[in-house]
Amino acid sequence: MRDQLVEAFLAADGPISGEELSHRLGLSRTAVWKQVKALEQVGFEFEASPRVGYRAIRIPDELMAPLVRPHLPPECLLGSPILWAASRASTNDTALELAAKGLPHGGVVTAGEQTGGRGRRDRAWASPRGGMWFTVFVRNPCALRHAPDLTLLAALGVCRALRVEGVPAQIKWPNDLLLNGKKIGGILAQIRAEGELVDHAVIGIGLNANFSIEALPADIRHRATTILHEMGTPIHRAKVLARILTQLDALYRDLQDGRGFQAVHAEWTALCSTVGQEVEVAMGEERLRGIARSIEPDGSLVLETSPGVTRTVVSGEVLFSAREQV
Ligand code: BTN
Repeated sequence: MRDQLVEAFLAADGPISGEELSHRLGLSRTAVWKQVKALEQVGFEFEASPRVGYRAIRIPDELMAPLVRPHLPPECLLGSPILWAASRASTNDTALELAAKGLPHGGVVTAGEQTGGRGRRDRAWASPRGGMWFTVFVRNPCALRHAPDLTLLAALGVCRALRVEGVPAQIKWPNDLLLNGKKIGGILAQIRAEGELVDHAVIGIGLNANFSIEALPADIRHRATTILHEMGTPIHRAKVLARILTQLDALYRDLQDGRGFQAVHAEWTALCSTVGQEVEVAMGEERLRGIARSIEPDGSLVLETSPGVTRTVVSGEVLFSAREQV
C-alpha cells in the first residue's frame, strides 16, 4: 500500500486529491491520510492544499521499491520484491524468516536502520540511518563447493557499482569494501545447503554510505569510515542499490552457469588492495603473518610467511593491524 502511494506521488505532475488516492488505492480518505502521515515520519514532505490535494515536495533517498525500481534494467532478476522498513533488527534475519515462507529468488530486504545488525564472527554491525543495509535472497545459486564465490562475487559487484558512481572502492580479501584504505562495507552471507548444493543463500550487504563517522563506534573509527566522509558528498543510495543488484544478477547468473570466481579472477585481483601488503590473517584462533602474494583462481589467498615459504588460506580474515580484535 505504502509503495503504491509513493508510486502515485512519483507519477503525478501536480497535486493529487485525497479522493483520487482513495479511489486508486481502494482505501478510505482517513486511511490515505494516515499513510501520508506515515510517509512524513520517514522523511517525505507534502504540500497539502485544501480541495486540491497532496503534492510530494520532498522524496527521501530510501531503499524503497518505488525509488529503486526505476533504476533497474527490466531483465534484472534481483530486486523483486524489494521489502523496505524504516527499522529492522537485521535484514539478514528478516530474509531468513521470509525464506522459510517462500520468498522468491531475487527478493531484497532493506532497512532505513538496523537495531541488531550483525557482522562476521557474530560481531555487532553499527547500522545508523543514512547507510545502505540490505540482504539479497537467492535460490539454488551454486554447488556447495562454490559457496565462497557468493561473497567474493558480491564484493566485486559492490565494488564495480561504487566505481561507476565515482567512488574508488577497493576490496580487502575476502569481502570487505575499502575506501582510502578504511572499511566502508562488509558482506555477511548465510547459506542453507541440501547435499552438495546450496539450496538458498542470504547475502547481507552493509555500506557506510551517507552518515558522519561520528555515528560509528569510537573504537573502530581508526579503521572504518563512511562514503560521505571520504567523498564529501552523499551517494544516491537507491541508484547505487540498483547498480549493485544489476551487477550481482550478472555475476550470479554466470555462477549458476558454472562460471564463478575464476571468470573474474583477474579483475578481482586488480581491485584487491591486500595483494603485496604485509598482513596478519585470522583463521579461527590461528594467526598467520606474512606478505599477501596472490589470490588463487579459486579465491584463496597465498601468503608468504617467511622467504620462499607460502601458505594458502582458503577462509580467514585479514586484520587491519595485529591489535585488531576479531
Ligand atoms: C562484516 O564485515 O563483518 C559483515 C557486515 C555485514 C553487515 C550487513 S548489513 C545488512 C545485513 N544485515 C546484517 O545484520 N548484516 C548484514
